[in-house]
Amino acid sequence: MEDKVLTHAAVNQPEINELMNEAGTDLVINPRNLYMESYGCQMNIADSEVVVSILKPHGFTLTDTYEQADVIFINTCAIRDKAEQTVRKRLAQFHEIKRNKPDMIIGVLGCMAERLKKTLLEEEKLVDLVAGPDAYRDLPRLVATVDSGHKAINTFLSREETYADISPIRLNSNGVTAFISIMRGCDNMCSFCVVPFTRGRERSRDPHSIIREATELFKQGYREVTLLGQNVDSYKWSPNTEQKQGETQQQEVVNFAQLLALVAQIHPDLRVRFSTSHPKDITHEVLHTIKAYDNICKYIHLPVQSGSSRILQLMNRTYDRAWYLQKIQDIRTIVGEGCGISSDMIAGFCTETDEDHQETLSLMDQIRYDFSYMFYYSERPGTLAARKYPDDVPLAVKKRRLQEIIDKQRQHSLESNTKDIGKIYRVLVEGPSKKSDAYWQGRNSANKVIVFPNKGCEKGTYVEVYVKSCTTATLLGEIYNK
Ligand code: SAH
Ligand code: SF4
Ligand code: F3S
Repeated sequence: MEDKVLTHAAVNQPEINELMNEAGTDLVINPRNLYMESYGCQMNIADSEVVVSILKPHGFTLTDTYEQADVIFINTCAIRDKAEQTVRKRLAQFHEIKRNKPDMIIGVLGCMAERLKKTLLEEEKLVDLVAGPDAYRDLPRLVATVDSGHKAINTFLSREETYADISPIRLNSNGVTAFISIMRGCDNMCSFCVVPFTRGRERSRDPHSIIREATELFKQGYREVTLLGQNVDSYKWSPNTEQKQGETQQQEVVNFAQLLALVAQIHPDLRVRFSTSHPKDITHEVLHTIKAYDNICKYIHLPVQSGSSRILQLMNRTYDRAWYLQKIQDIRTIVGEGCGISSDMIAGFCTETDEDHQETLSLMDQIRYDFSYMFYYSERPGTLAARKYPDDVPLAVKKRRLQEIIDKQRQHSLESNTKDIGKIYRVLVEGPSKKSDAYWQGRNSANKVIVFPNKGCEKGTYVEVYVKSCTTATLLGEIYNK
């Protein structure tokens, strides 16, 4: 088979649109089994649901064992080197399977596909198909291209694509909670981050399609939606309609606070969550909206990354320590002390000294996050930090600092959970707990997981739970009878 790479590099946007249109549902490809594996953030997981929805009308049936697959798609993450290594190992395993099954198609989708582009096809020869995050409508055509004996790639990044009209097919769903992508891409240029390169420019999805999707989910029995974007607070939608001469047009601009309110108004029993908020963009209007609606969950994920103003500046986060602390104060004043707050932290960023690290620890002491995602810095090729700053903190030091951050967070999580003992929370029942069917689990508004003995309650209903004890990660309680 000739390893000819078909690339869009030489085609312009109108031609690509035409190719995409050609790849409509009338493109016939043989019925086949699709196995999908997804890595990375919730947005990537949500994208896999869009991919399955695009492929279904083309004769693809999902299988959960890769041995039965005719097509294997791996939706990848490029955020840290470790994430990419995991994918490479997996690809090597799939490549082995392909030895005995030469017609099987292996495709890489998502952020690693976008970052590495045709290297994956040409130098590494591990895969047949490469599709970036904005190219999923083109997948049927890309698969047909591989069928015809060529390798296929589309890593074109769009300024418009939001997959607004596609109803995602929910994968691994509990039937109670679902994710809804409200925007794509990121226009921030945090110096450590690869996302602006893998996901392209920021664009917001039509609010009507978001409301439609959330309403549909509610009708199907879902009781919680999480609105997703790399930077949800900069959501802004204005109709892109051309104005005829002399015609006055009402510009209906919708910002994130207004979108939150619109989704909350669908039904009081539909909980609304959102992720992720950039500290610089979360406005008082958003905080007041969270406060105003009982069904908007009182929980904000507000990644700080570092407690040192010097490091924050090198990271290009556009706020300093004092400014961030003020934002936390605003949340506690406007939304209330009970609002859950979590963070992301990076240990060992370029030039970080022990003093800088101590500032991260002291910021944690001051704020006392309920929960955090914690990482050590991993240089990503092409980012501002990789080009401008030395990755000069030794790995052993990065790991030691990370461990100190993790230990502190564990202490704070336990402290926060201990404070909840004796309280009664309204919990949305999500289903059996991970450990035992006799226990069920759900979350309170502040996003804490609560496990309790199931005394005949049903998935998707709300129960009052009395908290009796806790671990660092979970509250343990009992359904409360008034
Ligand atoms: N858009 C979100 C975060 C997206 S990535 C935000 O702005 O907060 C999720 C987290 O991965 C980041 O918050 C950061 O803590 C971490 N991260 C991103 N790039 C990284 C890198 N190069 N090394 C280590 N951690 C990184
Ligand atoms: Fe990356 Fe910063 Fe954008 Fe988050 S806001 S995705 S960390 S560039
Ligand atoms: Fe990873 Fe891409 Fe998400 S790099 S974190 S999958 S946006």
